[in-house]
Amino acid sequence: MLMVCLGNICRSPMAEGILRQCASQARIKMEIDSAGTGNYHIGEAPDHRAIACARAHGVDISGLRARQFVRRDFQEFDLIYVMDASNYADVMKLAANDGERSKVKLMLNEAWPNENRPVPDPWFGDLDGFEQVFHMLQKASDAIVRRYKENQG
Ligand code: 4NP
Repeated sequence: MLMVCLGNICRSPMAEGILRQCASQARIKMEIDSAGTGNYHIGEAPDHRAIACARAHGVDISGLRARQFVRRDFQEFDLIYVMDASNYADVMKLAANDGERSKVKLMLNEAWPNENRPVPDPWFGDLDGFEQVFHMLQKASDAIVRRYKENQG
């Protein structure tokens, strides 16, 4: 599964760390990565506020480094979870066929089906914004792991 936002330094690295922790606690083996649609932060560590927020919840994302979403990701991953409508449009623009398009999902629809809720960009806000984002991503990650376990029987 690939988690995608704009910069790959706030929302998607948090989503990657949280989903990794959920999967590990559920003893599920899942390939998890994250990427950004933009190229502004390639090679950078996550935003210090994202690292601090995740760490306060026992999730270490300090070792992650930002990369840009590439077309090959459509082949590498079964599901591509985007954070908001803008990420959705950017990734869909790169999809070549219905198979690729069908892999792209809004992450919060896992917890709140069909509501198309965005994960708000916490970049311009304070730590409280990151905290809210963390809890949204936690709910979605719990739902992803629960559904995955059900589907595996
Ligand atoms: P992210 O947040 O997409 O959650 O990683 C952002 C980080 C940086 C910028 C925008 C959003 N930026 O414009 O630099």
